[in-house]
Amino acid sequence: MMEKKIFITGIAGFIGFHLAKYLHNRGDIVIGCDNFNAYYSPELKRARSDQLKKLGISVHALDIQETNALKDLIHKNHITHIVHLAAQAGVRYSLTHPESYEENNLKGFLSILEICKSHPQIKLTYASSSSVYGLNKKIPFSENDPTDAPTNLYAATKKANELMAHAYHHLYGISVTGLRYFTVYGPWGRPDMAYFLFAKAIQKGEPINVFNHGKMRRDFTYIDDIVEGTAAAIDLESPLEIFNLGNSKTEELETLITLLEKGLQKKAKRISLPMQKGEMMETSADIKKATAKLGFSPKVSLETGIIYFTSWINHPELY
Ligand SMILES: NC(=O)c1ccc[n+]([C@@H]2O[C@H](COP(=O)([O-])OP(=O)(O)OC[C@H]3O[C@@H](n4cnc5c(N)ncnc54)[C@H](O)[C@@H]3O)[C@@H](O)[C@H]2O)c1
Repeated sequence: MMEKKIFITGIAGFIGFHLAKYLHNRGDIVIGCDNFNAYYSPELKRARSDQLKKLGISVHALDIQETNALKDLIHKNHITHIVHLAAQAGVRYSLTHPESYEENNLKGFLSILEICKSHPQIKLTYASSSSVYGLNKKIPFSENDPTDAPTNLYAATKKANELMAHAYHHLYGISVTGLRYFTVYGPWGRPDMAYFLFAKAIQKGEPINVFNHGKMRRDFTYIDDIVEGTAAAIDLESPLEIFNLGNSKTEELETLITLLEKGLQKKAKRISLPMQKGEMMETSADIKKATAKLGFSPKVSLETGIIYFTSWINHPELY
């Protein structure tokens, strides 16, 4: 089998960090870039990056919009696969900082596609999101369901990425796979996400805002399962695909909080609030396609995954 030389954008991010380690451990050559922006703790991103560097993985401080510098790097390193994870994530932030989504998710994605256009032999795998399902009422969400009613700008940019990828595949024959991730959590996670915010507040004895009175449901997916699914997508030889990668068991927010209380051995102080603008009531993944084509089979329950997360979280210097 051909040796894989994999370039990961957003390598110092939560998913990028775990994916880089996994691919390196299985014998792939891994390099990547990150702009270490301050959307959340750059110290946490640096700490992830330092770990990767210790393994011999090179991490370049580079923005994905620096197309020519990126092109050079990809050319010089004979890259065979790109995994594009760099993005402005977060739903709530998109209500207050829409321009960051335009820059990173639209212009940034175009930059990656332009690089693939000049190296059409490279297979592109990129992160989409369960949020593309927006107002879709049918549960669970399947890849064939309509995704033309997003509830926020973040989701709209992720849907735009899927359409842009389709256009570049059609025009230039690039092989491209989009992954709709469903609420990913775990150690070294993202401090802006609800599970992390809750955990920090519970630790400090501060109150937590529980939107929609804890009745929202999410398909929480443990990071190791996401990494395995992403690695299988990288390996898949197929011209154009989109996959749901989710745990396929939805849980109420309230269940998450109870598990965090158990893991941290401390009670949460809940402030019960109504539903927030732009949020989805429920996300739930139909993973039949990913199971059939990628052998995707999530193994870690929320109960176990939260134990792994809460045993990691005692690193307040990082976030
Ligand atoms: N974590 C989840 O639950 C989840 C769910 C659905 C989709 N996703 C998507 O998966 C991808 C990875 O998510 P994550 O949770 O690891 O997020 P993350 O924010 O931890 O990682 C993204 C990384 O990209 C970097 N980055 C952002 N803009 C950049 C730019 N212009 N140039 C270079 N680097 C840049 C950031 O510094 C960050 O380290 C994102 O595209 C995200 O939208 C994540």
